Amino acid sequence: MQITLNTESFASVACDWLIVPVPQSSEDSQHLADLDKALDGVISSLRERGDLTGKLAETLTLPVAPGIAAERVLLVGLGDTTGLQIESFERALLTAIRQVSTRKDQRVAVALPCGHTGPITTADAVKIIASGLVVGSSGQGLYQAEPSRFPFAEAVIAAPGSADEQDELEEAAEQGTIIGEAVNLTRELVNRHPGEVYPETFAQRCAQIASELHLQCDIFDEPRLKLERMHALLAVARGSEKPPRVVVMKYKGGDADAPTIALVGKGVTFDSGGLSLKPNDGMKSMKADMAGAATVLGAIYGIARLKLPVNVVAAVGLVENMPSGSSYKLGEVLQARNGVTIEVLNTDAEGRLVLADVLSYIAEQDVDGIVDLATLTGACVVALGEEVTGAFTNDSQWCNSLLDAAQRAGEPIWQMPMFDSFDEQLKCDIADVRNVGTRWGGAVTAAKFLQRFVGDHPWVHLDIAGPAYAESTKPHREGGGTGAMVRTLITLAGKDDTFEEDLDD
Ligand code: BES
Ligand code: MN
Ligand code: ZN
Repeated sequence: MQITLNTESFASVACDWLIVPVPQSSEDSQHLADLDKALDGVISSLRERGDLTGKLAETLTLPVAPGIAAERVLLVGLGDTTGLQIESFERALLTAIRQVSTRKDQRVAVALPCGHTGPITTADAVKIIASGLVVGSSGQGLYQAEPSRFPFAEAVIAAPGSADEQDELEEAAEQGTIIGEAVNLTRELVNRHPGEVYPETFAQRCAQIASELHLQCDIFDEPRLKLERMHALLAVARGSEKPPRVVVMKYKGGDADAPTIALVGKGVTFDSGGLSLKPNDGMKSMKADMAGAATVLGAIYGIARLKLPVNVVAAVGLVENMPSGSSYKLGEVLQARNGVTIEVLNTDAEGRLVLADVLSYIAEQDVDGIVDLATLTGACVVALGEEVTGAFTNDSQWCNSLLDAAQRAGEPIWQMPMFDSFDEQLKCDIADVRNVGTRWGGAVTAAKFLQRFVGDHPWVHLDIAGPAYAESTKPHREGGGTGAMVRTLITLAGKDDTFEEDLDD
């Protein structure tokens, strides 16, 4: 979607819908006051009558708009804007954008709420609006004859009087567009059904994106995975008719001695649970169990398109977890790439087995910090709910850098404990480790399991079992794949201080 900047007055923007964010306080900016005047005082009288409150994400439609170039106006509340948070700003924008994206070929403009974005800079506000226009106008109805959401024919950000900053704001709009497209790539892959997205087709998509963006891309097929000693990952794949793949992609945006971030993703394209079969309800959304891999792909796509000055190596482990005569069994002992032996006591704890091998592979490379992403445990959703990512680490500085990136990206995240005592749950009589602990603290024992495969590298594990996939649609976001953490990873890669402060000491 091409997003353009318009530096004329709000009243002069020709479009089907003009989205106007309004603060709760009635101290309107000059530009908003001008719009009110052009609309013959409609906005101020709606305020006086109490019809327009400006409460966060509350919307009000003006179906006709005499006196201005727009056909219709959608007013949306920003709440109290003094300490406006990115998350709230986004919630308001997405609510409005989603409301006007239900018809084909719409020309939509968003009025920049100049002076009412609290701590959010004008350039950041433009970036957030641009990504909101891209994400909010794209739906999950991939297979519907009559979809309910349509990308806009034209999208404009109205920033009156900003001609001085035009270059900077145009760049911000372009960056926001790319970030939105990266989020949509992840969402699309998560939303596609598991008859279509399986290890080979996911790997093909990686190859196609790599060739578009001139990234190095290696695809490991089964014989290669055997040569690479990825026996834990191969065991998970064994019950499926679909052969596994591991894809390693490299983006070199920094010079040769610049630091390298490793991104690792769980790509279980369908998780039936294997012989430890899931009940129907638990299996319904398990096409989304490749969201970690999709997030990694979305992130490297965004980072490469933004040409960020870093090096990134991205690795995804792609398997299908199925029950069959050839499935891996309870009691079976597997040897991961790094030599660690694992007794399988639940074939539904498969993600950690896949990640064990991919993390071991990455830990042998020259990388400065690792982030893995996985829809790893239901226990993390019990602990933090459906919208908050769990963060687990062996290095608090690297984790702080990531938490800071999440905050700047407006994505909710919470750090979980990693006490050694959790490790005791994984003690095993026959092998080095067992693949499940007790009922309690399941998200932490899973992270403790992964820690055995990352060596001494600074590492953060992100459990996105809750936020990666939304069961239902809300006014501000579509159900299905969400693209959670794509923006955080892009922000992490783009931060000036990611390595200086956090790793080089
Ligand atoms: N993919 C699931 C975790 C999951 C659950 C993701 C709900 C999204 C929503 C994972 O492979 C799994 O099955 N984990 C088990 C682990 C258990 C057997 C120790 C779980 O959470 O029940
Ligand atoms: Mn599972
Ligand atoms: Zn799983």
